[in-house]
Amino acid sequence: MAGLKLENVCKRYGAVQVIENLSLDVAEGEFVVFLGPSGCGKTSLLRMVAGLEEVSGGRILIGERDVTVAPPGQRNLAMVFQHYALYPHMSVRENLAFGLKNIGIPADEIARRITESARMLELDSLLDRKPGQLSGGQRQRVAIGRAVVKEPGIFLFDEPLSNLDAALRGRTRLELAQLHQRLGATMVFVTHDQIEAMTLATRIVVMKGGAIEQVATPAELYRRPATRFVASFIGTPGMGFVPVQRAADEQGRAVVTVPGGAAVTTRVSADGLPAQGLVLGVRPENLRVAEVGPLRGRVELVEFLGERTLAHLKLEGDSPLIVTVPAGVSPELGSHVAVSVDVAEAHLFDESGRAHHAQEALS
Ligand SMILES: Nc1ncnc2c1ncn2[C@@H]1O[C@H](COP(=O)(O)OP(=O)(O)OP(=O)(O)O)[C@@H](O)[C@H]1O
Ligand SMILES: [Mg+2]
Repeated sequence: MAGLKLENVCKRYGAVQVIENLSLDVAEGEFVVFLGPSGCGKTSLLRMVAGLEEVSGGRILIGERDVTVAPPGQRNLAMVFQHYALYPHMSVRENLAFGLKNIGIPADEIARRITESARMLELDSLLDRKPGQLSGGQRQRVAIGRAVVKEPGIFLFDEPLSNLDAALRGRTRLELAQLHQRLGATMVFVTHDQIEAMTLATRIVVMKGGAIEQVATPAELYRRPATRFVASFIGTPGMGFVPVQRAADEQGRAVVTVPGGAAVTTRVSADGLPAQGLVLGVRPENLRVAEVGPLRGRVELVEFLGERTLAHLKLEGDSPLIVTVPAGVSPELGSHVAVSVDVAEAHLFDESGRAHHAQEALS
């Protein structure tokens, strides 16, 4: 086991800067997930950590050791890729043994590791099959097993579940979480799937355009997103945004007027809040169709999702907003409804996209 430290890491491909001055500390035993849209630099970063890609600037430390220019084989880590690239002519057992034989590990030690990891990943009965005789999920487990037998200090995963169907993804995700608990190993996992990130991570690193947008626990990212980008990237559906005007302050809290002119007394401190360009951000579960409420909108679509029902509204000024429909209420398409706002969970975002959060209730 080992921790990982990135110090001002940069990556350029020719003239194109892909990662800019990225710094991060991953503690021993953490499960850190890098989350971000396609092209934000997740794979580049992971490949630099693995030593498969040169670093253009900065330092990478594994444990206490500077490995910035160390070859991949000397970094004490194992990487699992999206395309699991098993050797098709070798059995599962031979696939698992291959990397170990190459570095001269004795045969009895190899056998011990294979038995142990096969038990852990439920590959026992598949050891003599060839990859072509396995399902996609089984192949992915072999790819993970190939990393496990190396007994690395750090596991690196690059979207290892994205080739699996939805049900198998869910199961394999659970297996990975259990593997992390059992091994207690440091894991760095890359994905653009926020559900994967939320369910696996002890901490999530949200990336945008080669830089870190926020590092936090899943719960903190959800409740206190640092920026509008994070707020819209986390949550399905994402947070709704309504342009507002700043009105008066009330007991140090910002009062804003929403489209239609009603006032909302937020829990956001008026201190240091800009006068112009504010956007109110609220998640669908904190907005409810109600008898009275500051927001009003036309019902464009009602979505019944089983455990909850959502209405898609168009507010005055045409901002779209997704809100919760309480049980027993059935809003008609085209009708106008009022929406109440849970101000304890309502944020304001300024023009730069930075969040100003509701202050915790005084109690
Ligand atoms: N070898 C390369 N040469 C030039 N540009 C590259 C190279 N590899 C990646 N890039 C560029 O670097 C940026 C980041 O790519 P990267 O593969 O790290 O993104 P990613 O976050 O992993 O995306 P995805 O979610 O699609 O896998 C992209 O704009 C990509 O086009
Ligand atoms: Mg990638």
